[in-house]
Amino acid sequence: VNTRVSALIPAAGSGERLGMGPKALVALNGKTLLERAISAFIGIADEIIVALPESHLEMALPDGVKRVLGGLSRQESVQNLLEAATGEIVLIHDAARPFLTIEIVRATLEALREVGAATVALPAADTLVLEDDVPGERAGHRPAPTWGTLLDRTKVHAIQTPQGFRRELILGAHQRAKLEGVTATDDAGLVARLGLPVALVTGDPRLFKVTRPGDYALAEAFARVWDEEA
Ligand code: C5P
Repeated sequence: VNTRVSALIPAAGSGERLGMGPKALVALNGKTLLERAISAFIGIADEIIVALPESHLEMALPDGVKRVLGGLSRQESVQNLLEAATGEIVLIHDAARPFLTIEIVRATLEALREVGAATVALPAADTLVLEDDVPGERAGHRPAPTWGTLLDRTKVHAIQTPQGFRRELILGAHQRAKLEGVTATDDAGLVARLGLPVALVTGDPRLFKVTRPGDYALAEAFARVWDEEA
């Protein structure tokens, strides 16, 4: 079937934790996070839309790439993107994850076409532990956490992006969340909370999210390797 695909890129974050200005505009080896995210969808998506911070709403974008104003939260930015999207299928991908391969995009599309919703998910590599509940914890006096319960790491995934959906499905899930005052850090979670299936597509450690200053150093070093391979 010839369904149109819209790639939606929330890029309106302030980058507060990174401390380098709006995060999507930070460059790695001479190319911004946003440029990197956009380039992963060229040739695959029929439409690319980015959500930008107000300060950068008029910035230059590659030919054909559309823009919307971002919101106060990621969730609001995605809502604005969804309202602008025209494809029957949408792929939502954080600008903060610059190292995206075409293979991952294809695998996400394939899974969502079967299930209706899909997210990239990285199987845990480390041993995973829930910290102990601390009795008598007081505000501002949090002792160092201690080992609580061991989790079965073979069943735990870290959720990444891209995430893909039939547009009507994710639009409805966002509208429900807004009505019910539910906030989420990703979009697949809004579908899962309605009891609907979300396929997990094997992720990749290179899809890490550039969040803190240490991530930037790692991303800058890795960008050189990535760009040489490209
Ligand atoms: O804040 P965090 O790093 O988790 O943001 C994930 C993605 O959501 C980033 O690409 C960021 O630019 C985007 N975002 C947005 N609008 C906001 C907050 C974050 O588009 N208000």
